[in-house]
Amino acid sequence: MGKEIKMIQLIRGFKDILPGEVELWQQIEKTARSLLEDFGFKEIRIPIMERTELFARSIGEDTDIVEKEMYTFPDRKGDLITLRPEATASVCRSYIQHKLYATDPVRKFYTIGPMFRRERPQKGRYRQFYQINAEIFGVDSPLADVELIFILVTLFSKLSVSDVNAHINSLGCPECRPMFKTALSDFLTSLNENLCSDCVRRKDRNPLRVVDCKVPACRAAMTDAPSIPDYLCPTCDQHFETTQKALSALNVPFVVDKGLVRGLDYYTRTTFEIQTSALGAQNAIAGGGRYDGLIKALGGPDIPATGFAIGLDRLTEIAGSNSTDLVKTPDIFIAALGEKGGSLAFEWNCALCLEGVKAEMEFGDKSLKSQMKRAHRLGAKHVLIVGDNEIKEGKVILRDMDTKDQVLIPIEDVMENIKLKLSVSNIKRE
Ligand code: HAM
Repeated sequence: MGKEIKMIQLIRGFKDILPGEVELWQQIEKTARSLLEDFGFKEIRIPIMERTELFARSIGEDTDIVEKEMYTFPDRKGDLITLRPEATASVCRSYIQHKLYATDPVRKFYTIGPMFRRERPQKGRYRQFYQINAEIFGVDSPLADVELIFILVTLFSKLSVSDVNAHINSLGCPECRPMFKTALSDFLTSLNENLCSDCVRRKDRNPLRVVDCKVPACRAAMTDAPSIPDYLCPTCDQHFETTQKALSALNVPFVVDKGLVRGLDYYTRTTFEIQTSALGAQNAIAGGGRYDGLIKALGGPDIPATGFAIGLDRLTEIAGSNSTDLVKTPDIFIAALGEKGGSLAFEWNCALCLEGVKAEMEFGDKSLKSQMKRAHRLGAKHVLIVGDNEIKEGKVILRDMDTKDQVLIPIEDVMENIKLKLSVSNIKRE
């Protein structure tokens, strides 16, 4: 007996996106691209791996992402590299490295692709997940933040995702945040409740992370914690006020959520999340905010920035349209019989595909019955039957699979006839 060969499964927290599912992803990406490009965003493609230091410096050493979730390993020369856990740091690195600010600091970029975080997998949370990122560089005005939130809300409405709420908050700036941090540290020191071990460790180094902790005991302990908006300096306060006024003027519903601090250290001033109740625990389908100090902290000029990332996996789980409606079926299936029929069918199949007609055929030698079955299974709208008899008669049969009508088409102008016939029946269908 031969040795049984073990099947190799994919890695936990990773997934395949199969035909039948991928059509919805494509539709969402297409809608997002077109909307972002209408708003002047240009696509940028950045590498999947970067030097670990880029993420440690941007996202923050004391964050969950950097402390426990990054896929980091030494390459063959011993340099530490990381599979990107997010895209913002890389887009900033690229903007600085290529001096994309040189002619005009105001730039809008978007990028779509996979990110990697070694979190505990559950519904809506994967170790490889996909994001649609948008970043605006060089604009200090709150209108840039409002534009981003407006784009998100518009996109979700275009995709018939209705159960969404925009949550916004302000995290202040290097002027006012220290005052808040002091108040928060004092509060944390006075706490008698037990915080989780991460929070005990972080409460002095980075107290903001305690506000963000998801452990129920920590959440309960933080109910009466000081909240950031109460400590904003007049400039940040004004910035946040204008943001809210501009959102209202655009009829974008939002709530001010004083506990929204986000899990990445680079944020300043306005932060936001689009949350839904349709996803259970993983309720954020998009998140973002301002990060005015990051480009400078990464060695670039002092240029403000703001952006967002949408979680594509989560979005596909709640997007309205049914993926099966999006699956493309063949316009025509060519059922061939005999050697001559087979080679004619192959010629026509290639020619039709080049003309944009979705054609399929049977490559092996199968009975007409089995070919008709396959055409049916694929959902082909028409079947063209070409066998030795048809070739002898100089006419092939075109069958409409909906109406079951059959017509004979002369072989010599079969291409023109098919194209004509298909466009006529398409018009009829619309
Ligand atoms: P983030 O909040 O970490 O922000 O991620 C943005 C979105 O990505 C989340 O709201 C969620 O929908 C999705 N996401 C995050 N982690 C996972 C996961 N493990 N599985 C599935 N989906 C996930 C950022 O990444 C920032 N870079 C956003 C940003 C851009 N801020 C400014 N510009």
